[in-house]
Amino acid sequence: MLPDLFIQQLKQYSDIERVVSGYVQLKKKGRYLVGLCPFHSEKSGSFFIYPQTQSFYCFGCGAGGDVITFIRRIENLEYMEAVKFLADKCGLEVPENGETDSRTLLKKKVLEINRESARFFHNCLMSDQGKGAYQYLIERGRDRKTIRHFGLGYAPDDWYALVNHLKSKGYTEQEMIEANVAVKGKKGNAFDRFRNRVMFPIIDLRGNVVAFGGRALDDKGAKYLNSSDTPVFKKSKNLFALNFAKTSKYPGLILAEGYMDVIAIHQAGFDNAVATLGTSLTDEQARLISQYTDKVILAYDSDGPGQAATKRAINMFDEVGVKVTVLSMTGAKDPDEFIKKYGRERFAMLLEGSRNAVEFELAKIRSAYDVGTPDGKVGFLKEACKLFAGIKNPLEREVYITQTANELEISPQAILAQIKNLDKREYYRERNKQKSDMNLYIGSMAAAKDDLQRQQKLRYAMAEEGILYCLMKNPDFYRTLETKIGEQDFVTDINRELYHTFVTRLQEGQGIEMLDLSSQLSEQAMARVSAILATAPSQRCDEAALEDYIRILIEHRNVKTDREVAQMDDADLGEYIKNLAAKKNRRS
Ligand code: UTP
Ligand code: MN
Repeated sequence: MLPDLFIQQLKQYSDIERVVSGYVQLKKKGRYLVGLCPFHSEKSGSFFIYPQTQSFYCFGCGAGGDVITFIRRIENLEYMEAVKFLADKCGLEVPENGETDSRTLLKKKVLEINRESARFFHNCLMSDQGKGAYQYLIERGRDRKTIRHFGLGYAPDDWYALVNHLKSKGYTEQEMIEANVAVKGKKGNAFDRFRNRVMFPIIDLRGNVVAFGGRALDDKGAKYLNSSDTPVFKKSKNLFALNFAKTSKYPGLILAEGYMDVIAIHQAGFDNAVATLGTSLTDEQARLISQYTDKVILAYDSDGPGQAATKRAINMFDEVGVKVTVLSMTGAKDPDEFIKKYGRERFAMLLEGSRNAVEFELAKIRSAYDVGTPDGKVGFLKEACKLFAGIKNPLEREVYITQTANELEISPQAILAQIKNLDKREYYRERNKQKSDMNLYIGSMAAAKDDLQRQQKLRYAMAEEGILYCLMKNPDFYRTLETKIGEQDFVTDINRELYHTFVTRLQEGQGIEMLDLSSQLSEQAMARVSAILATAPSQRCDEAALEDYIRILIEHRNVKTDREVAQMDDADLGEYIKNLAAKKNRRS
């Protein structure tokens, strides 16, 4: 447990509004702030920050909690790591005997193993046994400096080279398997996962080696083999070379498909290139990129799949507000080949003239229709108008409209009229969608969408939530509460657990504000607490309200399910029926 004093200081210095705005663009809306949720993809903001309670809550996906929960989720950290992360930012020192749970220890071990493995691979590349691999890289145009800079390596053509090396350094087979540099064999023994491959270490933003990509030098297995997700690595949340690109002096990021492309582009002098790690772009990666830049140059392969991926990426970046331009390479299949063939100057020119997303789309549409025929003209125009309707900048819009009007030899007004029609339809569609979104919020709670118990016992669950809300607002209510109900009166499991935590803490003189709770509650429970804080303000929280909530829970003492009634013995059943009758009399 961390000392109270430290938590108090952390609370003071880690204002949720300031911390979150480093990741999400927030707009002030009365007493709270709103932005696009970083935990699910959305176009209208459902992500709320409540400075008063220092909590966040997303009405769309139900994510919620305090500033520590936020950092844990967005940086993928354990509790203590998140505390350390925040403390570092405000210059606080985390007290030494802070808890170190086993998962934090495992992560540390895995990181050590990764670093040791990277060192081992690099040494192999530079030694005799790596001669062939080194030659391969040189032939592909990489120079010695680049090889060092990226820490490239060679995994020997051997089943136990790395395993034996790591054993000599004191690591266990289990730990190597967790790090995914070794695999468990049929007989239970570990063997090297990467064999006879050029190795690309993947380094995160804090300089840790978190994973590897390996390119085959023979035809055994896949051309590229990548680390699977490990305790320190999530493929979908990392980008190759972002550790270098984040401090580049060039504006914007270049996004390429492969490791080799990125390295070639860096060597050509553009250190702002990154790549995904053996998967296509994910929402998380698009958001990650949007934290560093508002402009991306797509440098995907010029083949069919590369172009399809380009299209997909354009849409994903549009969602997160990143402007996209597309590199159009001709005469080479990827940036690596282009640079090798035509040199860095030609590549620089390509970057200069990279066409923007609208032009790319327009060219695509144009190639799908024969604009020489009347039918083709109409088809092209319809599609093009849809595209133009999506352009928000009116000036930019006009440029394309004029261009297209000239090309098709029709009046710009005709195009404008067409777009106006589309705009209207778009407007109504969006408005209806927002309406139905609002309806979903009322009565339901995104953080509890899978909670069947809450749905079935909604009336009681809401009373419980009212109580928890009152308690957080007025902690001294717990004295009144204790004399009237106990935790056994809580009907739903999660609220009972929260009540138990609250009361226990209060009895021990501890706080129950968001930041006090996050050391003790699971992420799921924290999301529920912030959901209650976010949705309950429509409920009252004075003493009269508290009485109402209590009454509802006391009522439930007498409500039995059919099954419970069926299982009662005669005496209990008699008592139960008498109770019901008495209640009925009282009402009438
Ligand atoms: P490419 O097949 O385009 O390879 O895959 P490349 O980057 O041009 O590689 P070279 O030039 O032949 O050496 C692009 C990316 O897709 C992933 C890798 O991340 C690779 O860099 N990939 C490809 C895999 O993960 N597995 C594979 O088997 C192939
Ligand atoms: Mn290539």
